[in-house]
Amino acid sequence: NQDELVFSIKDLQREGTKKLSKTVAEYYNEGSMDLLTLNDNTMAFDRVRLRPRVCVDVSEIDTSTKCFGAKVAMPLGFSPAAMHKLAHPEGELATSRAAAKAGCNMILSTWATTHISDVVKEGEGYGNAYGMQLSMVEDWQTNIDVVRNAEKAGCKALFLTVDCAVLGRRLNEYRNGFSLPKHLQFPNLPEGIDPHCSTVYDPRRAYDRSFTWEKVKRLVASTTMQVYLKGILTAEDAILAADCGAHGIVVSNHGGRQLDGAMSTLDALEEIVAAVKGRIQIHLDGGIRRGSDIFKAIALGADHCWVGRIPIWGLAYDGERGVTLGLNLLQEELTLTMALCGCSKLSDITPGHLARLRANGL
Ligand code: FNR
Repeated sequence: NQDELVFSIKDLQREGTKKLSKTVAEYYNEGSMDLLTLNDNTMAFDRVRLRPRVCVDVSEIDTSTKCFGAKVAMPLGFSPAAMHKLAHPEGELATSRAAAKAGCNMILSTWATTHISDVVKEGEGYGNAYGMQLSMVEDWQTNIDVVRNAEKAGCKALFLTVDCAVLGRRLNEYRNGFSLPKHLQFPNLPEGIDPHCSTVYDPRRAYDRSFTWEKVKRLVASTTMQVYLKGILTAEDAILAADCGAHGIVVSNHGGRQLDGAMSTLDALEEIVAAVKGRIQIHLDGGIRRGSDIFKAIALGADHCWVGRIPIWGLAYDGERGVTLGLNLLQEELTLTMALCGCSKLSDITPGHLARLRANGL
């Protein structure tokens, strides 16, 4: 295609962003406060370099693995991100089709603009798996309703977001007076909650600030889905997550949208891998912009990676085709990185394939 403008995720970000209003572009692309954590997520990947091994037979490269029991084409899927319909009218349905056709798993946000059952239906017959993200609210029954709907839709995993007891200060939203446009809804929240009255107190949509490990245990016991705690950044909390019966954790800082100044996810990964000692699955999101970033996370011990903004930029650029484009780029880049590092399968990737830049940048 001679009109194609996108040959990397950076291109996809630039071209996708061009199609959005300033308010929506900043809502998606920015984070909280001074964007320290947002920027450090990507910089952390750049601080790590590759140590390629040569003269290895790389005539066949296999990037596939398993996630939630489903075979996936690569160790990468879609993180839950709110409101895909702001990027493209087909929203989460287009994201779901692209994920399914590429053999990737997808997690739907509680604040999605499409119902979970419709999102899962879109992938029927492809064999990928879906998960549901839960933002804990004060009203316990509302949380349980989200869980039951996800089970009914056929979700295999619940991503319980634990880094959002209160919402981060996202200055762009204040500056731009950001709110959900009148024509969009949050169909995964129980009926009767007005999605357009975010300033009015309602225990069914107010974040649960008294959410503790006891409630995590209660939630784990209440569902048949695998439960992942999303938003863990320390070895201490990773151990507590394992003790609570979680199936896994997502090392995440919410894409730099919550606690600004929190460490980058790649920097947090090492101590967590060392502490968890293989007891539970360790996933990571935040700052992945290239196939080589996936390689680096795997080398440091992650089992699987997720991306939040890349499918949004794809949607904005060209709907389903744009999302597919993003996935194809990541898969091609991961395959190439593996080939040039002398790894023919994911289990060949080791910490020995990485070199850290010294603090002075030399
Ligand atoms: C998010 N994220 C997010 N996380 C979550 O648990 N529930 C949510 O509703 C949302 N909503 C959301 C909206 C938007 C616009 C973005 C960009 C992100 C965070 C998301 O799941 C993930 O942690 C980050 O997006 C990962 O960082 P990258 O891949 O965007 O760098």
